[in-house]
Amino acid sequence: MKLRYLLVTTVTALVMFGLFALRDNMSDRKAEAHTTVFKLTEVTERTTDPAEWGRNFPRQYDSYRRTVDMERTRYGGSEADPTAMGADNVYKTVSNIERDTRLKTMWNGYAFALDFREDRGHAYMLHDQRETERVLQRPQVGACLHCHAAVTVAYREAGLAAGAPGTLDDPLLSETGQAQLMQGFPIISAMPYAEATLKVEHPVTCLDCHDPKSNQLRITRPGLVYGLAALAASDDPVPHLESVEKWRAGDRSQPYDANTLASRQELRSLVCAQCHVEYYCASKETLFFPWHKGLKVQQIEAVYDEHRFPDGTPFLDFTHKQSGAPAYKAQHPEFELWSQGVHARAGVSCADCHMPYVREGAMKVSDHQVRSPLLNDAKACQVCHRDSAGELVERVHIIQDRTAALMGRALDAVVALINETEAAMAAGATDDQLAEARGFQKKAQWRVDFINAENSMGFHAPQEAARILGEAIDYAQQGRLSLANLGPVAAK
Ligand code: HEC
Ligand code: HEC
Ligand code: HEC
Ligand code: HEC
Ligand code: HEC
Repeated sequence: MKLRYLLVTTVTALVMFGLFALRDNMSDRKAEAHTTVFKLTEVTERTTDPAEWGRNFPRQYDSYRRTVDMERTRYGGSEADPTAMGADNVYKTVSNIERDTRLKTMWNGYAFALDFREDRGHAYMLHDQRETERVLQRPQVGACLHCHAAVTVAYREAGLAAGAPGTLDDPLLSETGQAQLMQGFPIISAMPYAEATLKVEHPVTCLDCHDPKSNQLRITRPGLVYGLAALAASDDPVPHLESVEKWRAGDRSQPYDANTLASRQELRSLVCAQCHVEYYCASKETLFFPWHKGLKVQQIEAVYDEHRFPDGTPFLDFTHKQSGAPAYKAQHPEFELWSQGVHARAGVSCADCHMPYVREGAMKVSDHQVRSPLLNDAKACQVCHRDSAGELVERVHIIQDRTAALMGRALDAVVALINETEAAMAAGATDDQLAEARGFQKKAQWRVDFINAENSMGFHAPQEAARILGEAIDYAQQGRLSLANLGPVAAK
């Protein structure tokens, strides 16, 4: 053991010395060959600092760091608001609720009506969470960190403190590593946000997607582990997730486990599904992904409709302040919408479009500047589509313009329903009389919110997005019809 340690340190020291001495007069290409052959530094299950990993993998680290860049596209990318200076002299991004005040009406009574901004690169995720008014003005829980920080080590430490077996040096995917992770997750999640956030230091880091020994992709997030196990146990067909279909055909003696069963191509999407998904995250229950009936909007809705909080009350995100309707809030269901599209069906992963291979000298590396593919001249698309960048961007815009127009109509219809319900209340309509209209608001709002919260403006699955918005418009108009049918009671 000691001998091996000595050997490793000596070799490391020699390599480092050699590299530094030669660095100036060596061509880039040779340096590249060296850095991939030798590990300059030993990264472990404790190494959350991406700079440490960056010593072994400078190309990936450099592009990872460029996620600080901000540039807008027609519907995506990101943009600083020069009138909104935030913490640490970093401008906030533009406010979505000021840009479209219908959103404020739709979320009246919920924290999203206080502050909801355009998303930006991964480098900002922890910073932005700490300074949102949703955190500053409302009590939030440690569960928020699941998707905004390098949190696996904090989970494991909390698990160990609570009596989980083993040590932090055990591989995360070992039995003891998993026991620590899963035991710590609900503990950190239940803490007040202000306390939990002191236990983390970095936004999503290399360790969150890669095994430190083998560098293989892996799943580290308990929310996704439980979510996929629930999805696999459902009967929603998922032809784009072959390993799930295979597990279903087997004896099912163990829950589905992506880390042992998923293919490399599946993992190129599943690492993103650790966070880019719909979820429940507040104080009444530990964070969960609602996939027990499948990934489609109406299946998720059905899970919520049946669900009860541990205290026995019906599941709900909030009660609408103006109309009194019960409401669900959707958040960034990129994985769910992508799952309904032709690209998923054809085996095209998130990384294929958002982390394309780039040539660096003699090397092919994955671009770790995760961003809109449109900011990269649609280069990612041209691996498969033989069209010009201009043509590909235009095809994306056509889909997005159509989705945006339909979403505008859906939002108008929901806002009209809210205002008319409020008027009916003022005119003396009873809760019994309003129950039907409020039920329609809940369904309509959930659907329009699902597409609004999804960040591709329909691109990930254009027809599914249109179907969902069509239903939203229909439900909202049925709600208005229900009010109209109340007759004189609701006369304004
Ligand atoms: C076939 C290519 C493709 C695949 C596959 C794909 N995306 Fe996208 N994605 C896009 C395009 C195009 C946009 C729209 C970008 C824009 O409007 O600037 C987008 C937008 C996004 C955005 C918003 C980006 C921004 O700049 O605001 C996120 C987040 C996102 N995708 C995540 C995912 C995740 C997670 C997956 C896998 C579950 C995925 N995407 C799969 C092409 C793809
Ligand atoms: C640990 C959680 C986590 C993981 C894993 C993750 N993301 Fe993100 N992603 C976020 C958060 C949070 C933001 C928003 C950060 C902000 O606005 O401050 C974000 C932002 C983005 C954006 C928007 C960038 C922009 O400029 O607007 C894209 C695109 C994106 N992610 C794609 C992906 C893809 C593709 C993967 C998988 C390769 C992935 N993400 C993995 C949490 C995650
Ligand atoms: C399951 C993963 C997940 C959890 C849990 C989560 N987020 Fe996020 N969050 C994301 C992703 C992905 C994005 C980027 C996409 C977007 O903004 O739609 C994001 C974006 C954000 C942003 C930037 C955009 C905005 O909404 O203003 C803030 C702030 C934020 N989250 C705060 C929170 C808070 C507070 C909590 C806890 C209540 C939380 N998040 C829990 C995944 C998550
Ligand atoms: C959100 C998940 C995610 C994070 C965070 C992440 N990577 Fe990756 N990384 C990937 C994906 C996806 C691939 C492609 C893997 C494949 O196809 O097998 C990849 C590939 C790699 C590879 C293999 C060579 C290549 O470029 O394809 C290296 C090395 C690497 N990443 C290093 C890093 C380093 C260093 C960091 C931190 C600075 C990091 N990664 C952070 C998802 C991530
Ligand atoms: C790894 C291969 C691959 C990549 C990368 C890829 N596509 Fe595709 N794309 C496909 C396949 C396969 C289809 C389905 C075609 C078919 O079966 O007829 C498709 C279909 C489409 C369609 C028809 C859409 C629909 O939903 O009906 C559009 C538009 C499109 N791609 C645009 C893009 C854009 C823009 C990008 C980059 C952001 C991209 N693709 C990246 C393989 C890819």
